[in-house]
Amino acid sequence: MADQHDDPRDDPLGSVTPPTPRRKPKPKVTTIGGRPLKPSTLMMGHGFDPALSEGSLKAPIFLTSTFAFENAAAGKRHFEGITGKRPGGAEGLVYSRFNGPNQEILEDRLAIWDGAEDALCFSSGMTAIAVLMLAACNAGDVIVHSGPLYAASEGFVAKVMAKYGVTYIAFPAGATREELDAVMVEAKAKAEAQGGEVPLIYLESPGNPTNALVDIEAVRDARDAHFDPDRCPIAIDNTFLGPLWQRPLEHGADLVVYSLTKYVGGHSDLVAGSIAGGKKWVNAVRALRNTMGGIADPHTAWMLLRSLETVELRMQRAGENAAKVCEFLTSHPKVEGLGYLGMIADARQQDIYDRHCLGAGSTFSVFIKGGEAECFAFLDALKVAKLAVSLGGTETLASHPASMTHLSVPDERKAMLGITDNLVRISIGIEDADDLIADFAQALDAV
Ligand SMILES: Cc1ncc(COP(=O)(O)O)c(C=O)c1O
Repeated sequence: MADQHDDPRDDPLGSVTPPTPRRKPKPKVTTIGGRPLKPSTLMMGHGFDPALSEGSLKAPIFLTSTFAFENAAAGKRHFEGITGKRPGGAEGLVYSRFNGPNQEILEDRLAIWDGAEDALCFSSGMTAIAVLMLAACNAGDVIVHSGPLYAASEGFVAKVMAKYGVTYIAFPAGATREELDAVMVEAKAKAEAQGGEVPLIYLESPGNPTNALVDIEAVRDARDAHFDPDRCPIAIDNTFLGPLWQRPLEHGADLVVYSLTKYVGGHSDLVAGSIAGGKKWVNAVRALRNTMGGIADPHTAWMLLRSLETVELRMQRAGENAAKVCEFLTSHPKVEGLGYLGMIADARQQDIYDRHCLGAGSTFSVFIKGGEAECFAFLDALKVAKLAVSLGGTETLASHPASMTHLSVPDERKAMLGITDNLVRISIGIEDADDLIADFAQALDAV
C-alpha cells in the first residue's frame, strides 16, 4: 500500500513546526526464515502498516476523493505513471477513481491467493469482466469463449461487444484438445476475414450453473499452437471454486476473474469483482479502469479485507457441508441427479477435475424429477435455505436458473448447455449440515 498520512501535531505554543519527513511503510513480510507465509496468515496484515494510521490495528476506511501530493514534482511523476508515459503505474495515491489505500491493500491480498503478480478490484464482477473485454478488443476481433458462461457475461460478449464490431466463437466446457484445435483454426479464419485478431480466450470453469469444467491446460496448449501467447491471454472466471479450490494461473491461464460478491465477500452483503494475473495483462486493464472508473469503493474494499480473513475457514466448512448434503440428495427418490463436482459421472470431466481442482466446492445443481412446477414446489417449501440468486455466502441459497439467472439465454442454447427446467442451483453455506439435510428432506416431501 502507498504512503498514508502523517499527523504533524501542532505544538502547544502555536509556533510553526517544520514538516516531518514522510514515513515509509514497513516492508511487506511474506516469508519467515526463507519459508513463504501462507495466504491465511497474510490476510491478517499484509500490505498495511498500522504505524501509518495512528496505530490502528485494522486499516481505517479512507473516504476521500483525492490525495494531497508531497510537492508538484511528485504530482507530475504520479500522473506520468497513471497515463502510461512512464511504465510501472502510479507511485503513490492520486485520485480515487485510480487508486486508494483500502483498494491497494485489497489488491495486494487478492493477488496472493492466486499467486498473481498484481490484481485489480472493481465495483462488481460484471464491471471486471466488461472492462477486461473492452480493454482487450478492437473492432474486427473475435473472442473465443467456453460455454456455459454466467448469463450476463454471455450477453456482454454476444450483444454489447457486437456493437463495437467484436464477434465470438463459443465451445462447450469439456472440449478436448482436438476440438479446441478446430475452434482455434475457425476463430483465426474468422478474425482474419474481419480484419482483426483473437485477443482474448475467455473461460468460466466450473460454468454457472451446470458446474461443467474446462480443461485449462488443453486450452493453453491449443492457444500456444495457434496464436502468439503474448497477444492472446487466457482469462478465466474462477468465481465458483476460487480462491481455495482452483488455481488457474498454475494451469495455463493468464488472468483470473472473480465476482467477489460470492465466496470472497462471503456474507451476501456486498457486490464487487476482481482481476488478477501478470503485470503486463493487468496494466492494460488498469489503464481502461483509470479512464472509465469502476474501481471498488473504499467501504466495499474494507469489507472485503474483513472477509478475506475468514475465506479459507468459510469455504472449508461450506465444502464439508455440501459433501454431506449431496450424500443425502444423491439417493433421494425425488432427485434425478446432481451436478456436484464431488460426484462426477463423466470420465472426461473427472479427468479435468483431478488435474485442476483442489476441492468440489459448495455450489451444485440438483435435478428434481419433474420440471418447473416440481422445482418451484421444492423452492417454496424450503425453511432454512433462502430462495435467492447468488452463491458463496454464509447462508444456503437455492434458485431456479432457467427462470431466473439464465432466463435471458435463448431456449435452444439453454437446452444445449443442460440448463433444464428441472435444475435447481444450490449454494451451501456454513450452517449445521444436519439442519440443512432436514430442510431439504421436508422440501422434497412437499414436491
Ligand atoms: C460465475 C459468475 N461470474 C460473474 C458474475 C457477476 O458478478 P457480479 O454479480 O458481482 O457482477 C456472477 C454473478 O452471479 C457469476 O455467478
